[in-house]
Amino acid sequence: IFIMAGLYLSFLFQLFFCLVFSLPTGRNSICGYRSCPATNPSMLNVHLVPHTHDDVGWLKTVDQYYYGDRNNIQHAGVQYILDSVIDQLQKDPARRFIYVETAFFYRWWKQQNQSTQRIVTQLVNEGRLEFINGGWCMSDEATTHYSAVIDQMTLGLRFLNDTFGECGRPRVAWHIDPFGHAREHASIFAQMGYDGFFFGRLDYQDKARRMKTKEMEMLWRASESLTPPLADLFTGVLPNGYNPPEGFCWDQSCNDAPIRDDPDLEDYNVDEIVQKFLNASYRQAGFYKANHIIMTMGSDFQYENANLWYKNMDKLIKYVNALQAKGSKVNVLYSTPSCYLQELNLANLTWPLKTDDFFPYADDAHDFWTGYFTSRPALKLYERLSNSRLQTCNQLEVLGGPKSKSGPFGEGDSDTMKRAMGVAQHHDAVSGTEKQHVAYDYARRLATGWAHCEVLVRNSLAILSGSEAPRVFCENLNISVCPLTESSHKFSMNVYNPLGRTVSWPVRLPVNGSVYSVTDANGRAVDSQVVPLSKSTQEVRRNRGYAKGELVFQVEAPPLGYSTYIISMLRDDINNKSVTFDETTGLLSSLTNLETNQTIQLTQNFYWYNASAGNNKESPQTSGAYIFRPNSSDPFVINKTAETQIVTVSSTVQEVTQWFSPWVSQVVRLYEGHRELELEWTVGPVPVADGLGKEVITRLDTDIKSSDYFYTDSNGREVLERRKDYRPTWELKQTEPVAGNYYPINSRAYIKDDKHQLTVVTDRSQGASSLYNGSLEIMLHRRLLYDDYRGVGEPLSEPGDFSDGLVARGRLLLTFTPPDTAADVHRPLAQGMVLQPLLSFQDGTPSANTKLEFSGLQTDLPPAVHLLTLSQWDEDTVLIRLEHQYQAKESKTHSQPVTVNLQKLFSTLDVLGASEMSLGANQWKEDMDRLQWNTSKPLPLSAKDPSPWEVTLNPMEIRTFLLRVRQL
Ligand SMILES: *[C@@H]1O[C@H](CO)[C@@H](O)[C@H](O)[C@H]1NC(C)=O
Ligand SMILES: *[C@@H]1O[C@H](CO)[C@@H](O)[C@H](O)[C@H]1NC(C)=O
Ligand SMILES: *[C@@H]1O[C@H](CO)[C@@H](O)[C@H](O)[C@H]1NC(C)=O
Ligand SMILES: [Zn+2]
Repeated sequence: IFIMAGLYLSFLFQLFFCLVFSLPTGRNSICGYRSCPATNPSMLNVHLVPHTHDDVGWLKTVDQYYYGDRNNIQHAGVQYILDSVIDQLQKDPARRFIYVETAFFYRWWKQQNQSTQRIVTQLVNEGRLEFINGGWCMSDEATTHYSAVIDQMTLGLRFLNDTFGECGRPRVAWHIDPFGHAREHASIFAQMGYDGFFFGRLDYQDKARRMKTKEMEMLWRASESLTPPLADLFTGVLPNGYNPPEGFCWDQSCNDAPIRDDPDLEDYNVDEIVQKFLNASYRQAGFYKANHIIMTMGSDFQYENANLWYKNMDKLIKYVNALQAKGSKVNVLYSTPSCYLQELNLANLTWPLKTDDFFPYADDAHDFWTGYFTSRPALKLYERLSNSRLQTCNQLEVLGGPKSKSGPFGEGDSDTMKRAMGVAQHHDAVSGTEKQHVAYDYARRLATGWAHCEVLVRNSLAILSGSEAPRVFCENLNISVCPLTESSHKFSMNVYNPLGRTVSWPVRLPVNGSVYSVTDANGRAVDSQVVPLSKSTQEVRRNRGYAKGELVFQVEAPPLGYSTYIISMLRDDINNKSVTFDETTGLLSSLTNLETNQTIQLTQNFYWYNASAGNNKESPQTSGAYIFRPNSSDPFVINKTAETQIVTVSSTVQEVTQWFSPWVSQVVRLYEGHRELELEWTVGPVPVADGLGKEVITRLDTDIKSSDYFYTDSNGREVLERRKDYRPTWELKQTEPVAGNYYPINSRAYIKDDKHQLTVVTDRSQGASSLYNGSLEIMLHRRLLYDDYRGVGEPLSEPGDFSDGLVARGRLLLTFTPPDTAADVHRPLAQGMVLQPLLSFQDGTPSANTKLEFSGLQTDLPPAVHLLTLSQWDEDTVLIRLEHQYQAKESKTHSQPVTVNLQKLFSTLDVLGASEMSLGANQWKEDMDRLQWNTSKPLPLSAKDPSPWEVTLNPMEIRTFLLRVRQL
């Protein structure tokens, strides 16, 4: 069929390649760059890219979008799109289509019969249907953590490879909609083997400048640590977001004129349309360097009736190219992003270098998309917690062996959770920019995913411990609710540690006794303390539990393993006798590092920005799910003073509760043996009866001489320097002094001077800024009264469990260190925050033969190494990712190459073979062969592996291996 087309000048070339590369199946398979249509080097080549942008949930849930349900909300049905496109592609081999979101394609593929599957496979093998990006979703870039991004990409890419093999491997990353772009995402894409990256949204000032200077396409050097070109990614800004040029939208959802080409009928418009297209092409070519330009022909949920698009594009191509006979120098063709990219690569131009990122994103002077960094804080935490649980579930599936999926507690799996986390990474999921009912759907999917994992975890822990006694997981420990610990007089607690090194954590269990004995796995007594339950926790909990106190003690668990603690009540008379007092302000006033004896002045307080209601004379822009726009740069202080209660001062923990208002409180804690100060904040229900939307922040004001500089992480990994009212790549005209200085933080932010560094590690993604010398502010919660006109059509006003406004609670960990040792503290602290211990409880005393302690590793990993992934792949293979968790130069002790022996990692697995893969695990490392782009500097070399089993990690490097293993 392909050969019959005979449309392309390069036909003979392709035939040659066909013969050389034909697959063992005998079918011609010339996908990838070799399947690209011919272009004309002496003309302006216009690459039409037919595409649809299918959100994996937004105004409707992912399944409503798939089926085309609830079309009263938004007309959109992905199943019909794929049906229609596959029909239309078969009608003409020149036609192309790209598909992006594997969560949808997977649903559709499962429902097709064999003959349709065969047709689709052939279209893929001929490059006529091409997968682009290929993750489960198109992830958000501001509020996602790299661990979950890598997982969701792996999930999608694996489905494509399993289903289509090499022809299903996407060459190009495609983030046409996310609202700003993270450097870490670019780094991840480069390490996954992508040749290029295209996106649609960037700051309007940046875009205007790039158009003028023809810098719409560039080489993004996405890591300061990784040796180029490891994290170099060719990056292009699309000309019209992801829409077609004006006047050329032929979808059923559009109203542009069709091409009326029968001169016998009325309204013949070919000449007019062709001229308009030539004008649009020349205009666009003025902003780009090569004699190739790309036009995205499609948009949100388009192609449900693909005939409309293809019929008109067929004509457009025919009539525009017909003019070549009369001397026109424009050549228009069906193409794909990878075919366009290949032409840019062949053009052998030198591209500008980009080293910072694309945050924050503004589409106009008062329209900064910096609100979603914090929107829906509870969903953001739940997503982060779910990542931790998925990693634990994956690990226990490996450690427990095959019976963990089908064992004493029934059938469990990790796949449901993987898919739930896959959709949760979408740019309208964890970002908090979906409708309320869709937010609930994401949360429900995560809960269902965990329910499947929970069975697996129960089975695995039963196998590892030899005890099948029932096990309870407490979902609501953050609000001190756990029926078992509240009522039981004797119980055991299993602490599973998903990190690759021994870690200790403080735990807090809701209890009703006043004195307990706690013993560890070796029968040793552990210091513990019962702390009365704070008023604020009682108010958040309401009627969901009845604990009067919290039992606080430190636990320690071996790497990738667990330890068991036995807890017995000694006395049950709770005796609430802590002292209450009011100092002048009750605020934090200084912080001292006892190791270095350094002190900084530090005040911390809570404030709220009054959200713009749209009645401002400069612009009607409101604050909403996406956009942060305070109507004044000065926030209101919630209370100048706090009512303070010292809850406890014991050897285990010192804690103080601060009350700022009925809806803002905080507990300040210092745990024995820990270097960080924990601030547990509780905000909500945010009152809005006064008619004012509120964006609540906490601000830390110090005497650190940070000037205009502060630092934020990118997707939880490398840190970028930020500077107030400044962008590294263009002359910023600042129009929003607060919102225009907000940046996403996924795991940390800091300020520093020569002597001191204050680092804040967060438990979820949030927005942060430094607006004053020595000051760092973090947005915690938002409750708003108006929609912000970016499509969601709802004010962000989460009702919460009791319909009076969502209460959010979270933790900030503060560390205060000299700058040169800061990373040694905040790196492990942040990993510990991301991968939380999993606590489970069993009533009564464990039976005598229960194994109270277990470790899946032979020994702790070196401090610089993080075990990012351990997951069952096939029956006898497991996927592992080892990560160097320090940046180059950031730590004197740890920013060095470090070597790990793969055969000496596991205590219960014999490693028989290891093959290295790309970061996305859809390509063998040795087969990776990315397009090269002209760079100005020669490339340095990085450290080499001493032997096949001993792998060396350079700073910030992640290495992915498929291990063939046998359970010992
Ligand atoms: C690409 O351009 C560089 C200079 O920028 C030149 O040295 C090189 O030979 C060119 N390669 C090809 C294949 O034209
Ligand atoms: C810590 O510094 C203070 C003054 O800054 C000093 O009075 C105190 O003796 C120092 N303590 C130690 C243990 O060095
Ligand atoms: C891709 O899938 C094929 C089977 O379709 C398999 O043989 C191959 O090993 C997979 N590649 C990778 C890198 O997993
Ligand atoms: Zn979207």
